[in-house]
Amino acid sequence: ASPEEERMKEAHILAADYFQQLLLNTEEGEEGLRYLENRGFTRDMIETYGIGWSMPNWDSLTTLLQHKGFDLDEMEQGGLIIKREDGSGYFDRFRSRIMFPIRDDIGRIIAFSGRVINTEGEAAKYMNSPESPIFQKSKVLYNLDQARPVVRKERKLIIFEGFMDVLASKNANIHHGVATMGTSLTPQHIQKLKRITSQIIVCYDGDHAGWEAAKRAAEMLHAENLTVEVAVLPAGLDPDEYIRKNGAESFRDNIIAVPQSFISFMMMYAKRNKNFQYPNDVQQYADEALSYLTSGISPIERELYIKRLSEETQVSTETLQGQLRLKEAQQ
Ligand code: UTP
Ligand code: MN
Ligand code: MN
Ligand code: MN
Ligand code: MN
Repeated sequence: ASPEEERMKEAHILAADYFQQLLLNTEEGEEGLRYLENRGFTRDMIETYGIGWSMPNWDSLTTLLQHKGFDLDEMEQGGLIIKREDGSGYFDRFRSRIMFPIRDDIGRIIAFSGRVINTEGEAAKYMNSPESPIFQKSKVLYNLDQARPVVRKERKLIIFEGFMDVLASKNANIHHGVATMGTSLTPQHIQKLKRITSQIIVCYDGDHAGWEAAKRAAEMLHAENLTVEVAVLPAGLDPDEYIRKNGAESFRDNIIAVPQSFISFMMMYAKRNKNFQYPNDVQQYADEALSYLTSGISPIERELYIKRLSEETQVSTETLQGQLRLKEAQQ
């Protein structure tokens, strides 16, 4: 990395230490500390993950960086501070937020995500560092540095939607989870994952957005010849909320240990909003489900899915087999 990038990373270490000290040892940080405690974070976890608090002031980090001799123009490019429009200096990007450090593949801090405590206001719940020479969202996976050795041992990797889910899982003794940073999964993320495993579990939030995103991620991973499974959460819960409601053991046993296969998940997804009273819905569903059974699947699996499809739709397995042969002939 260039000397400039090295200095940006140095500044991130300084900022993270500063934020943590504010959270743990000052009156200003008490609100954030209480919030984290209510969400089940212990002091130990806060220190391990490097979580902190940013001051409400406009210039507390800016002043610190200046005193430590950092070039403020460089710090602006690194994403920590923002230039005033009238050109009269800089101000802090993050204010009154719980600060989560984001690390690169070898564990160096390259960005922050800041959470507001009160989500009722206008401010976005999470604010991330902007794109910079050291932080490219489309490449970064939260916790990849820590997860890598565990993934090699477990053979599998879990992708969550939010880094809070990664942290809740770590607390539940699941250490092979990662999360994207406020973007959907990109080809660059997938290339990175491919280098450490071929088996991925997608575990996104149990809401409409989560389902849509899980479908998209699963299709992308499948297209890259990875073995994809989808761990589906009950409606209305994300992994963190599930763990808080039902406990770590239930999360491990009833969610992570029993994911849907790619085909099962895609069939489940295709089935939503369908009413099998209507022949047209049956036709559409069977057509989509059969499209997953044409290639890259063993004869045994194929037979089992056709049986399932027949039970679901009341169409005979013979008719479904016939449709499948037609589909294959068309390819
Ligand atoms: P969620 O809204 O599911 O957040 O967004 P969460 O992980 O459950 O967080 P808590 O439990 O409310 O604290 C998932 C991810 O989307 C990005 C963040 O990366 C977050 O982890 N996001 C969400 C943003 O970047 N900005 C936002 O305002 C919201
Ligand atoms: Mn969500
Ligand atoms: Mn969520
Ligand atoms: Mn959540
Ligand atoms: Mn296939």
